[in-house]
Amino acid sequence: MPRPHGNILINRRTSKSVDLQEIPEFKVSTTTAEDVINIANGVFSPLTGFLCYNDLDAVVHHKRLTNDIPWTIPILLDLNLNGLKEGDTILLTNEETGLHATLDIEEIYRYDKHLLAREIYGTTDLEHPGVNQIFNMKDSFIGGPITLIETKPREFDEYHLTPIETRILFKEKGWKEIVAFQTRNPPHLGHEYVQKTALTFTDGIFINPIIGKKKTGDFKDEVILKSYETLIKHYYLKERAVLAILRTSMKYAGPREAIHHAIMRKNFGCTHFIVGRDHAGVGNYYGPYDAHEIFKEFPDLGIIPIFFRSFSWCKKCNGVVNEKTCPHSEEDHIQFSGKNIRKLLQEGKRPPENMMRKEVADTILQFEKPFVE
Ligand code: ADX
Repeated sequence: MPRPHGNILINRRTSKSVDLQEIPEFKVSTTTAEDVINIANGVFSPLTGFLCYNDLDAVVHHKRLTNDIPWTIPILLDLNLNGLKEGDTILLTNEETGLHATLDIEEIYRYDKHLLAREIYGTTDLEHPGVNQIFNMKDSFIGGPITLIETKPREFDEYHLTPIETRILFKEKGWKEIVAFQTRNPPHLGHEYVQKTALTFTDGIFINPIIGKKKTGDFKDEVILKSYETLIKHYYLKERAVLAILRTSMKYAGPREAIHHAIMRKNFGCTHFIVGRDHAGVGNYYGPYDAHEIFKEFPDLGIIPIFFRSFSWCKKCNGVVNEKTCPHSEEDHIQFSGKNIRKLLQEGKRPPENMMRKEVADTILQFEKPFVE
């Protein structure tokens, strides 16, 4: 099992009782609360808190922290300052997650948002959901370590595992080589094929859908989970697959996010990470294989990427193929287009079986409104 990123699994939870009486309280969004929880649980190891200026600048320009550890997606906090100053300790709370965490303010700073957007997302177009998020943030960022005091039970907790828990689970299962699969969609045949191809030369697959804030038109969390349960029940060996959620927001940052996705899965104890077509992409902002190319910059990442060219259904082969395995022409190929699948499901129609498993499609069709509105 790989060592955690930066060599230590961060644990910023405290069981000590903390006197919160005198500490000013700041309500944060659920997305920020989830960042705090991920830092505390070690999902974002080696981060112990929100980025300060120098680390952010290194991430923006070099895709690394100041200590040279690969890091590609900034984890930032913006708050209404209300007289806050460096050296203060504040309490971060959030109703939905029951978050109570302290933050020791190390630094309050500003950063050029155009530069941030251009380097992280490759565009400053406000139509890009990640860019939009940046320009909606306040002008000052706050950096410093957090300490998590408590959270409350939430929907889907039964699917939630922390890096400590997955590491114990993989060990118990006797898995040595574990391939992680990132997703934000119910599985089509291309997803299944990618997973099973990777699984043939590893011991187990960690299917790890992202649950949390997504954009309009994306599948709802419960739809993704139920459809995966159905797929695993009918088409996977139970002892070879673990399904667990990752609560974090999608950034749609394409290649940079692929590295971030891989780092988080390394912290969960995975040895390999699947990167297919247009990983974490949105619109036409990134080339379909930009997320493959970026891994060349990180020989020291500590998790092995497995790259896949786009899979589609070939009418002549009568099976799932890609450009490396099939000699037939474009006209013979049916793409596993998320857009087409969504359109059919929206019309209450079952996508054909050469696109999506019948059982999976039926599971989705049971939901009256399967999409985020
Ligand atoms: S993502 O935003 O999480 O990347 P999605 O859930 O669609 O979106 O994809 C999950 C993983 O499957 C990604 O690594 C993606 O590149 C890969 N993938 C999706 N469709 C295909 C396909 N047809 N062929 C190869 N890989 C694919």
